[in-house]
Amino acid sequence: MRQLRPADVSPEIAAAVAALARGEVVGMPTETVYGLAADAESPEAVRRIFELKGRPADHPVIVHVADASGLDRYGRDVPELARQLAAAFWPGPLTLVVRRSPRVLDLVTGGQDTVGLRSPAHPVARAVLAAFGRGLAAPSANRFGHVSPTSAAHVREEFGARVPIVLDGGECRVGIESTIVDLSGAQPRILRPGMLDRERIEAVAGPLDTASARDAPRVSGALESHYAPDTPAAMGSRATLVERQSRLAARGLIARILAIGAMPAGAHGIALPTDPEGYAHGLYAALRTLDALGADALLIEAVPDTPDWEAIRDRLARATAGSGLDCYGT
Ligand code: TXA
Ligand code: MG
Repeated sequence: MRQLRPADVSPEIAAAVAALARGEVVGMPTETVYGLAADAESPEAVRRIFELKGRPADHPVIVHVADASGLDRYGRDVPELARQLAAAFWPGPLTLVVRRSPRVLDLVTGGQDTVGLRSPAHPVARAVLAAFGRGLAAPSANRFGHVSPTSAAHVREEFGARVPIVLDGGECRVGIESTIVDLSGAQPRILRPGMLDRERIEAVAGPLDTASARDAPRVSGALESHYAPDTPAAMGSRATLVERQSRLAARGLIARILAIGAMPAGAHGIALPTDPEGYAHGLYAALRTLDALGADALLIEAVPDTPDWEAIRDRLARATAGSGLDCYGT
């Protein structure tokens, strides 16, 4: 399949925009992960997203906009700080939660008085948004609770013929979901960490509230076991990985390892890059590949405890939450 380039506001993009205008749902690349996009102002279209994902109706979806003018179309009482953050980081992997305008459907916000807005940087998403002219509601293009897709092939694995149009924009550059900053309360706070890290946001916004996002039930990513592979997964230090793999093998169980840098000698699995950007870029594809091998357990090497790995630690904690595998046993 041909990978789309921005220069061709190609027949593929035109066909996708026409489908969106008819109220259909389209798979769309963004720089973070692929989205399942639909006209944000059409209740039928947004309802279809929820059906396809199997997502509970009280979980809000992000509205993707072409540029900062979307803040005024879909937001209300938009704080100056939202405009500053949009000016600094849009288009890019940052979602801003602000109070919503009456134009925003209840279905989009899960009935809340706020809306999440993001202007994505991927050239194909930008071309679609420019041609469509309105906002696109788009959650990650995975079934509820699954790992987010970072290629067009992943979206097809998730939905097959149920989503006939998937625009192929290649592998997502960032690889994990956007950072979500809530600007609707008294103090700005991060609801979901992303590769646009706290330090860079605080350079514009000043200190952010550090209250845990896990207390915020309406952020579906805040559910403990979100972003989970099907294979039971656990984290551990590099030293324990091979030992655990052999211990499981002695019981006739197959474990695969997700390592950082070089694969430990004798271990079987995938090794991701040692820099956080490279690791995030490859993480979800690696989890899918390891899952597809149908192993009994997935052993994940713990990542560094530094701020630049925060978003990755968050996703790994969710991938391993509630899997029944503890860190030291089997
Ligand atoms: O990178 C991303 O953000 C990707 C791409 C496709 O843009 N989208 C994405 O969407 O991750 P989704 O629906 O899988 O996750 C969006 C998160 C959810 O956890 C949702 O609860 C939260 O954003 N969210 C959306 N609107 C919100 C609001 N008004 N208040 C609080 N959380 C909100
Ligand atoms: Mg998601």
